[in-house]
Amino acid sequence: MNTIVRETCDLYRVDLSSVKKIADGFNEELDRALAGQKSSLKILPSFLSAPTGREKGNYIAIDFGGSNVRVTLVRLKGKGSYEILKQTSRLLKDPQGRYDYTTAHTSGREVFAFVADLVAEVLAGAWPDKLGLTFSYPMHQNSVSSARLIRWTKELKPSQTIGRDIGKMLEEALKNRGIIIKPAAIINDTVAVFLAGRYYDSGVCAGSICGTGHNTCYLEMSGRTADMPGMVVNTEAGNFSLLPGNCYDHVLDQETEDPGQQKLEKMVSGKYLGELLRITMRDLGEKGVLLAYSPSSSIWNQPFSLSTEVLGWLQSEDYEGKVLLDWIEKNGIDVEDYAVFKLVSTAILDRAMKLIAATFVAILERTPQFNTERRVIAVDGALFYHIPGFSQSIQNILQGEMKDFGIALLGMPNGSNVGAAVAAAMAKDII
Ligand code: BGC
Repeated sequence: MNTIVRETCDLYRVDLSSVKKIADGFNEELDRALAGQKSSLKILPSFLSAPTGREKGNYIAIDFGGSNVRVTLVRLKGKGSYEILKQTSRLLKDPQGRYDYTTAHTSGREVFAFVADLVAEVLAGAWPDKLGLTFSYPMHQNSVSSARLIRWTKELKPSQTIGRDIGKMLEEALKNRGIIIKPAAIINDTVAVFLAGRYYDSGVCAGSICGTGHNTCYLEMSGRTADMPGMVVNTEAGNFSLLPGNCYDHVLDQETEDPGQQKLEKMVSGKYLGELLRITMRDLGEKGVLLAYSPSSSIWNQPFSLSTEVLGWLQSEDYEGKVLLDWIEKNGIDVEDYAVFKLVSTAILDRAMKLIAATFVAILERTPQFNTERRVIAVDGALFYHIPGFSQSIQNILQGEMKDFGIALLGMPNGSNVGAAVAAAMAKDII
């Protein structure tokens, strides 16, 4: 291997022997957060505990994610069973440029009017028992049905939103559309995945998202969170900052909407991995390592023009697959440079998997109350499903670190919707 390429890949190296150390650092940050001290992590109470599995009924579930909004009419049938009766979803940013709800030029009012339109589309005469909203951003809550946005992440920036009551904004937008309903529950997407997982499997002790963004929640048993024993808490794991980072992480961070924030998320999540690959390959191009490198080509001078999907294609056995070849050709990349792309992409993904595994080790160490033979983390998100080897590698690292019990990662493809429905079912009726 070319020395420059090797040295570059080494910048992403995390040895297996450091996984435990990173996990310890993560746990210390969580302890500080729990004690109300300064920490890059949070313990945000959801005001929900574990579901019983007996939750039933018809619910409207809204999933406000990092890339799209999905509205679903869900029927919960109990014991982990559910049926999706109707669903619609729309991107927050139209690829054809007709609308964009991600920038500061759009207000919270407009964003929630967009959400209300989708709800109206799905409801069309049907009337659910309650409504649950999954909102994939950090929120302060003082009850399950009220939540204030702390800040945006994943490059979103709608204005007139920070510190405002998300439930009220949604309720008002629905009212303007003639739909009179109060959100019964507002939850983070990790909490939704936990609830959906636990509804199905009583071994679930945490929920995580490995998608556009990254984060993990768990069932905190200390009773130190709003006086409720057994409270699901959102850690905002993506903001974990006790990681060194390399020169490319620094370049990426400076390009983002929130420099200095979401350090872990920028190393492990779908919004950023493609950009890390692009920045790293551009540097190799500038150093003369690539056979074809033209600085004026849009792939090299346009931030976020390389999607994280490409890392998945590069990991696939079927690398001569047409999609990848088309992409290589379209971007003026020499096929011979494929090997370098693959090496760098593997290095980036390997680090991401080890860092996520380290935080999972920390979370599992905090859940001794589930001292059964088997502990389960429910996970949702595109990386988890679509990057070959991703979930298996994380699982292997976890099992290597924690030998006393079995560990399973449980994919929850409808986690955000089913979780919102379960949360609404659990929430006490509100007037
Ligand atoms: C947000 C979290 C969210 C995660 C996964 C992060 O950017 O801060 O609240 O859970 O993305 O969507």
